[in-house]
Amino acid sequence: MSVAGTGKEPSPQEPLLDVRGLVVDYAANGRRVRALDEASLSVPAGGTVGVVGESGSGKSTLGAAVGRLLPPSAERVGGTVRVAGAPVFELAPATLRRMRRERLGMVFQDPVASLDPTKRIGAQLRLVLGRRADKRVLASHLERVRLRDPREVARAYPHQLSGGMAQRVAIAMAMAAGPELLVADEPTAALDAQVREEVLDVVFSLAADAGTAIVWLSHDLAAVARRCARVAVMYGGRVVEDGPAGQVLTRPAHPYTAALARSAPARAGHGARLEPVPGRPPTLTGPSPGCAFAPRCAFAVERCDRERPEPVRVDGRDVLCHRVGELPFTEPEEVTA
Ligand SMILES: Nc1ncnc2c1ncn2[C@@H]1O[C@H](COP(=O)(O)OP(=O)(O)OP(=O)(O)O)[C@@H](O)[C@H]1O
Ligand SMILES: [Mg+2]
Repeated sequence: MSVAGTGKEPSPQEPLLDVRGLVVDYAANGRRVRALDEASLSVPAGGTVGVVGESGSGKSTLGAAVGRLLPPSAERVGGTVRVAGAPVFELAPATLRRMRRERLGMVFQDPVASLDPTKRIGAQLRLVLGRRADKRVLASHLERVRLRDPREVARAYPHQLSGGMAQRVAIAMAMAAGPELLVADEPTAALDAQVREEVLDVVFSLAADAGTAIVWLSHDLAAVARRCARVAVMYGGRVVEDGPAGQVLTRPAHPYTAALARSAPARAGHGARLEPVPGRPPTLTGPSPGCAFAPRCAFAVERCDRERPEPVRVDGRDVLCHRVGELPFTEPEEVTA
């Protein structure tokens, strides 16, 4: 099916999601924060991509931009987002709504906030599934995400649910219509370890059955690499390394990825904020003049401070690093933490 008004079907070569050079600023209290500084990401139909990075690297902004669901304080300064060929930021409101409904499933970082506080869960789910969905159908969708008492959950209002339950409801709603693309922002952060794995099993197997592509935003590089074919690493509002999950995890090409890979989540404990490298990630107010990671990078040279790296294709990945290929970043002892 094509998005009305766009007259475009994705060609076999065309990615389902294509984010190119996206620049997004937030304006708050007279201050400008550059959240995305030419972020690019492309996802094929049915593909699974994990997007990882420290807090503030721009993951949620990128995820929200896919559905043009940025908060009012955000402004797209440049770049494009295409879903199935349709330019998301150019679509008329009705076309945009239809695109979201027909193609996109979104799970936000704050699941409670993404639910309508005034409607029972069952009623909200019915909006996605259609009026004909009876109680049994509603319950089956809630059961799939391991909600123990699905009929009771269907009768509940969002504020009556725990964070973990709300997160599972949000996942059930996002998956209910069998979207072509699921954007899931930290979808399991509020769940305990066992439920987390169960829910991820469900999400990935439902997605595989329905041919749904997944963009999974997370702090946890290792967890993402276990489930996704590809991993994109974000730093300072850009995707600094993007490639096959196994390779990115075991043979990182960007010094930041190397640091991220070494700060094993097992060591940090689940849910802990990653502190892969000493120092803090940047808060940009405009375009980074050079590589945003340079101030924390053990390998930075003068050029890194003043010249923005462009993507270089190395070993099956796209890497934003002036020195990639020049240094053996893959040797853990070469990386000074
Ligand atoms: N509503 C907002 N108003 C102002 N600044 C914001 C807003 N949302 C995000 N930012 C800023 O934009 C940058 C990117 O934030 P974003 O939430 O996209 O990162 P993230 O990678 O999702 O972080 P986290 O891991 O904490 O969820 C940060 O500097 C953040 O402070
Ligand atoms: Mg976030």
